[in-house]
Amino acid sequence: MTAVVAFVACGSDSAAELSAPGERGRQLSTDLGCAGCHGGDDREATIGPDWTGSWGTEVELDDGSTATFDALYVERSVRSPDAQRRTGDWIRMPEYRADQLTDDELADIVVYLEELG
Ligand code: HEC
Repeated sequence: MTAVVAFVACGSDSAAELSAPGERGRQLSTDLGCAGCHGGDDREATIGPDWTGSWGTEVELDDGSTATFDALYVERSVRSPDAQRRTGDWIRMPEYRADQLTDDELADIVVYLEELG
């Protein structure tokens, strides 16, 4: 059996320089499958909006309003995705409850997205 050392804890090998929480967030987004839809690192987004370059931008929602891509927006997108859908022809963003993703873990993902820029 080949041992696979998938991630370097200090993050020195990753594309972006990440803090410790940012690195945990990156790992979580891979483990939970977020990155499979949203991309990140050097991965392309497939079926979700691309995270890279999203932080701080204005996004259009399908009720005609706009929202700033910030911590609150990310938290809402994960906890109650139906409350703020992006305009466009997307599939449904799955909802992650606290028993699937704790508030602490979500906070790490928020740091990761901020550091992705
Ligand atoms: C099956 C694919 C899929 C997975 C897995 C997934 N998402 Fe999404 N996500 C989407 C789609 C599609 C949208 C856009 C539609 C919408 O707004 O609901 C979205 C929207 C979002 C948004 C708003 C993005 C924006 O650009 O406005 C955030 C933030 C987000 N997801 C975070 C996450 C996180 C964090 C995880 C993992 C815990 C995750 N997603 C897992 C498909 C996915």
